[in-house]
Amino acid sequence: MSIAFKPDESFRDVYQYRNSEAAILRFPFPFPEDRYMYSVNIEPHTSGEPGTVFRAAFDIDEHYVAECRDRALTLETDPLRCQVLDHMDTAQWDTLELVMESMARDYPEYFQLERDGAEGTQWTWTNRPLGLTQSFVFGDADTLPCAPLEYITRQAQGDFVLLDHRDDNLFMDGGMVTTQADWSLDFDLGMSFMEWHGPVPLAHQAGIFERALKFLLRLQSGAPVRRLNWTMTVNPRLDTSPEHYPEWGPDRASITPENVGGKLHLRVELQTLFRLPRSNAILFCVRCYLISLDELARVPKWGKRLHRVLTTLPQELAEYKGLVRYRDTARQWLAQFDDGAPTTPGTLAEVERLSPPLDESHTRPSFAGS
Ligand code: HEM
Repeated sequence: MSIAFKPDESFRDVYQYRNSEAAILRFPFPFPEDRYMYSVNIEPHTSGEPGTVFRAAFDIDEHYVAECRDRALTLETDPLRCQVLDHMDTAQWDTLELVMESMARDYPEYFQLERDGAEGTQWTWTNRPLGLTQSFVFGDADTLPCAPLEYITRQAQGDFVLLDHRDDNLFMDGGMVTTQADWSLDFDLGMSFMEWHGPVPLAHQAGIFERALKFLLRLQSGAPVRRLNWTMTVNPRLDTSPEHYPEWGPDRASITPENVGGKLHLRVELQTLFRLPRSNAILFCVRCYLISLDELARVPKWGKRLHRVLTTLPQELAEYKGLVRYRDTARQWLAQFDDGAPTTPGTLAEVERLSPPLDESHTRPSFAGS
């Protein structure tokens, strides 16, 4: 299926971003119920239905070209957003191989990988959307323009973290992190699973991280897993890093009843985990999807459900996720989509067509009030 890339989108300064109707319908809505609480929501990362974000190992969509450009802009001013400790060299090559093989297999019209030479180490990679062709020797970093992890993740959507498995624990020993929800690779580099999860409220007491770590230590090569996480972001901004907090933090105070539908975005992370074959490291990928409330509410079930989730969300989670400044405004705006009727379980949109876009006042007249 061909993808209509939108190279002129911008995720900073003068924001220019929107989802097509097809992108709204395939959005990974994260709430199977009307309430939300942390859980060990891990499932096999098997290939899903065409038309979903689970079809490919690494999902590519209409924002691909613009997101790669945004990453390049971030790296220009902030090279430490990509760092790898020395002992993770093999894991870098494992990652390059996994991503190239998967993208070439899942999107043959856009990406190609050829392996030549007596030992099969002479590779040629073609990336049509970005207009790149690169011949190199697999395992020889001098034949690439930059280190293998940086090379391939500059051509992928989402963040990538390399985890070393030792002492029955996982250590964050490398990564490319430019689209994160307020955490820092530079700060977390070298930390263990419990250490980097330290700031998360309620989940430690519920034993969630203990169970998740046990599960991940047994992760097998060839059997990746996935989970969804979510937060909210003012403006369609990918780089909500602590390093740049002064540029985006104050926006949290800018939400009003008039602008909330267009300005506030649900930010969903599709997190996938792959055991890497040579290094025995784990690759943790965080693919970020943004949707404005205006767009989201065009699926009636989603508008209604998000209203209920925000209404019942525990205060500790709202504080940790940084939603407290605008939660009430969002909840009141979303109330117009909630008729109080029961919702069906599961995340499916249950519509083939979207409701029409909202009018200029960002409201639809059916269920007024809060
Ligand atoms: C092993 C790969 C993983 C990495 C590298 C990772 C990394 C992170 C980081 C950096 C944060 C932000 C912490 C902060 O505030 O500074 C976070 C939050 C969190 N992580 Fe993980 N994580 C991983 C796996 C998991 C798994 C398997 C679970 C399953 C339960 C999980 C559950 C959570 C939760 C619930 C939060 C809070 C998110 C929120 O409320 O927005 N993580 N993780």
